[in-house]
Amino acid sequence: MRSVINDLPASKIREVANAGMGRHDVLAFWFGESDEPTPEFVRQAAIDSLNRGETFYAQNLGLPELREALARYTAGLHPAVGPERIGVTSSGVSALMLATQALVGPGDEVVAVVPVWPNLTAQPAILGARVKRVSLRVRDGAWTLDLDALLQSITADTTMLLVNAPNNPTGWTLARSEQQALLDHCRRTGTWIVADEVYERVYFADGATAAPSFLDIAAPEERLVVVHSFSKSFLMTGWRLGWLVAPPELIDAMGKLIEFNTSCAPVFVQRAGLAALAGGDAFVPGLIRRLKQCRDTLIPGLAALPGMSVSNPLGGMYAFFRIDGQSDSLALAKRLVAEHGLGLAPGAAFGDEAEGWLRWCFASHDPARLTRGLARLDQAIRAIGI
Ligand SMILES: Cc1ncc(COP(=O)(O)O)c(C=O)c1O
Repeated sequence: MRSVINDLPASKIREVANAGMGRHDVLAFWFGESDEPTPEFVRQAAIDSLNRGETFYAQNLGLPELREALARYTAGLHPAVGPERIGVTSSGVSALMLATQALVGPGDEVVAVVPVWPNLTAQPAILGARVKRVSLRVRDGAWTLDLDALLQSITADTTMLLVNAPNNPTGWTLARSEQQALLDHCRRTGTWIVADEVYERVYFADGATAAPSFLDIAAPEERLVVVHSFSKSFLMTGWRLGWLVAPPELIDAMGKLIEFNTSCAPVFVQRAGLAALAGGDAFVPGLIRRLKQCRDTLIPGLAALPGMSVSNPLGGMYAFFRIDGQSDSLALAKRLVAEHGLGLAPGAAFGDEAEGWLRWCFASHDPARLTRGLARLDQAIRAIGI
């Protein structure tokens, strides 16, 4: 086995979850998904497809009608994008891996804005690239970008910039002016931007239907790949369906790469994706309202606890916080599960930069679950004696 594979760290979220999964008394908020199942109309579309016998291989880049539907969906949120710029993938994480395979090789430099969901930085490492981590900084309990530091770290030697906003785990979002500065800079250095925008709809700014996207400002032929997923906005984590938007020549190359990775996304899953897009206008705004209600239940509740540093995330579905005096997030998360039945993700899972922090996924069909979790955290803080 290659040593880089041998050295891959095991997931620290899993380490905590393994200690509590199967225990009915644990309130689990450790994974990045809602406890609400996929909407019925989406599930029905997959069932109908299977009943029609759609059990065969499909086009590498996805069903033409799904690529067209995704082009229309994108045009509803951003400047128009043709289907020739869209590739359907078997999940967002697969889209990220394909982009990384297409763009970087051994020894290439990748700059990543961190803390971030660990898969983003593991993928280039698996392919032998060097990952330069540029950390967000904490100001008044909120994670913010030091734009100058990021720009300075991206040079003509940087093949790819990886940026995830709205960000998992911190909730940090990119402002339009920051996107523009990054795009201008990467044009000069010849650096590809891989923008993970899977949380673009999970954005709580008044009147906005999506977070600012690089698609709003980049030309079609620019070195930009935007990664998307059906997982978060359509409650489809278990379906493994995503897509990417890229220049047409790169999409052609992606078709070849998809052949060697998964060959295609399953047709019945793509039919479910088509149904999700068709029903999206009726479904997504309600989901985002419910998530906002969850956020507005959890964050003030956390802020009221003693020794707490927490900020109100503008996007994503996570509260990211720290408690004074607690510096070992893995030990604390394990203790919270074992002694208080509260399942959170340790900040250390997202990089050393986030050590001491905890992530709480607030996507729940029932905000009362969050209130019960808050009571457990309150009790734990008192028991630990903070
Ligand atoms: C930042 C980020 N990107 C991508 C994904 C991948 O989503 P999926 O592989 O379920 O489509 C996730 C999932 O948690 C995520 O948090």
